[in-house]
Amino acid sequence: MGKVLAITNRKGGTGKSTTSISLWAGLARLGKKVLIIDADSQHSATVSLFLYFLTEKNSGAGMTGGRI
Ligand SMILES: Nc1ncnc2c1ncn2[C@@H]1O[C@H](COP(=O)(O)OP(=O)(O)OP(=O)(O)O)[C@@H](O)[C@H]1O
Ligand SMILES: [Mg+2]
Repeated sequence: MGKVLAITNRKGGTGKSTTSISLWAGLARLGKKVLIIDADSQHSATVSLFLYFLTEKNSGAGMTGGRI
């Protein structure tokens, strides 16, 4: 059974996106499958992950083996 984690805070700029990406990275390193649902209209988590996967794909290394 999966677990749902929600990173929320009414105040802006308090590290919600950073915490989400850090949690994803840590859980991925433990071999967990993680789905990030980016409900932010600024889509900063999506941009961060897109840039990460672009870099990882070019380097041929990393946590997901270059799979998107
Ligand atoms: N643990 C931390 N220590 C220092 N700086 C941090 C930490 N977490 C986040 N930051 C910095 O704080 C800023 C805001 O972080 P982030 O974008 O994750 O916040 P947010 O809550 O998602 O913002 P928004 O409400 O605009 O979506 C960024 O510059 C980020 O690098
Ligand atoms: Mg954010």
